[in-house]
Amino acid sequence: MPCCWNHCDPSGRVGRRSQKRCGGRRRRDRGSRDRGRRTRPRAVGLLALLPTVVEAVAPRPVLAAGGIANGRGLAAALSLGAEGVWIGTRFVASDECAAHPEYKRRLLEARETDAVYSDIPRVPWPTRVPHRLLKSPLTEGRSPPSRPIARNLLGDKSVDVLPFASAPPTIETVGRTELMPNYAGQGVGLIHEILPAAAIVEQVVSEAHHTIRRLPELLT
Ligand SMILES: Cc1cc2nc3c(=O)[nH]c(=O)nc-3n(C[C@H](O)[C@H](O)[C@H](O)COP(=O)(O)O)c2cc1C
Repeated sequence: MPCCWNHCDPSGRVGRRSQKRCGGRRRRDRGSRDRGRRTRPRAVGLLALLPTVVEAVAPRPVLAAGGIANGRGLAAALSLGAEGVWIGTRFVASDECAAHPEYKRRLLEARETDAVYSDIPRVPWPTRVPHRLLKSPLTEGRSPPSRPIARNLLGDKSVDVLPFASAPPTIETVGRTELMPNYAGQGVGLIHEILPAAAIVEQVVSEAHHTIRRLPELLT
């Protein structure tokens, strides 16, 4: 039975440990967030990390995640030994995603250096959890407002949003959406337009085909 890891570790450590735990059973290791432990900022990029994990857990299949936003990223991940990819941020900038329009606009305008690592404690997460989000006055160390920063719908109830809540702004949010977590991966600089999710998938797959087709001529 296939085994799936979604881990957020800067080394092959978690992959190797997950393989031991996994045995023949299906297992999804959701990485540091689900383990609820603090880890250091990502120290190893996907280019080096992915083949290390693939090697460590072989012959189990690996999905690559983090910073993949187009077909060249998909082709690279497959070349490095992944069986597939897990794409997050690119789909926030899709027609179907209920993210707040300002959050989507910020994704289109952001560069890769605008997606910063953080382990700011967030409510209701039980502990410090590593995450990546767009820079904001709060990630830059400015003091949070002493009052709620926005209002959100919880079911049919309108509720206050406090600084450092974990929920990102949605189409139902009213207030300072820039102070809420605008989660984003480092591939954010590759996102240039909001598209239907199906078009994103088609674009990614077709660009991966194109990228892979031109490789043989580069090798001759
Ligand atoms: C809006 C948003 C919410 C996310 N929420 C979670 C989450 O609750 N738990 C988690 O483990 N990862 C979460 N992630 C991380 C994704 O599951 C995924 O691993 C990551 O986005 C992949 O990298 P990419 O965004 O660069 O494609 C979230 C990502 C985004 C963009």
